Amino acid sequence: MRWFKDFPLILVEGFRLGPLSEQERRALFDLYSDNKVCMFLQRDPMRQEKEAEALIRKWQEDFRHRRGIRWGIYKDAGGEKDLMGTVAIHYVDSINRRAELGADLFPCYWGAGIISRLVERLKEAAFKEMGLHRLEIRCMPDNIASVRIALKAGFTFEGTLRDYVYIPGKGFTDESVYRLLAPEYFSRLPVSEE
Ligand SMILES: CC(C)(COP(=O)(O)OP(=O)(O)OC[C@H]1O[C@@H](n2cnc3c(N)ncnc32)[C@H](O)[C@@H]1OP(=O)(O)O)[C@@H](O)C(=O)NCCC(=O)NCCS
Repeated sequence: MRWFKDFPLILVEGFRLGPLSEQERRALFDLYSDNKVCMFLQRDPMRQEKEAEALIRKWQEDFRHRRGIRWGIYKDAGGEKDLMGTVAIHYVDSINRRAELGADLFPCYWGAGIISRLVERLKEAAFKEMGLHRLEIRCMPDNIASVRIALKAGFTFEGTLRDYVYIPGKGFTDESVYRLLAPEYFSRLPVSEE
């Protein structure tokens, strides 16, 4: 598996993906204190801004220790700095060359196809740039948007793990697993992009 010397900045389809800085703790707190956003995430809504600051620091550590990459999503126009949401290639297991995709957006951006488009670029980063063998999308079975994103992006449903995650306030929740393997990804690429 390969890793990035510097944090990988990505420009794609009118969006800029970059690292979050601690100055964005307020924006991240706004995202993760929203009940609608947290409904399908394995977390309780945040109650204090310092939780967001700690999370940003954890993501910075994760990058340094090759455990994951978490990008902030911004509009790539006029130096726009407003956070729209985040995407991640996380839970990286370098020995088995696998990882998971993660994503969340402020509700005002939902349903506009943003994550569907970004996932195509994240697949490229995972397989072509990092040399991963297996990429997963894991979500609660009733998270229709995530299920649609996984299927449209060519992931295969492998099954649902019953009572897999305990979430305070929700109890035990099921987790569905979708996978895309490197040979599946490369065999479906147009010849010019291989
Ligand atoms: C999941 C999430 C990131 C999807 O991002 P998005 O950019 O809104 O997704 P897209 O616009 O690319 O939509 C993908 C598909 O889901 C559908 N969809 C989007 N939001 C939906 C919703 N709230 N309910 C049902 N379907 C929805 C879209 O119609 C689209 O389906 P289609 O291609 O058949 O038309 C976003 O809804 C979100 O932030 N949710 C809260 C956090 C979360 O659940 N993260 C994922 C955890 S696994």
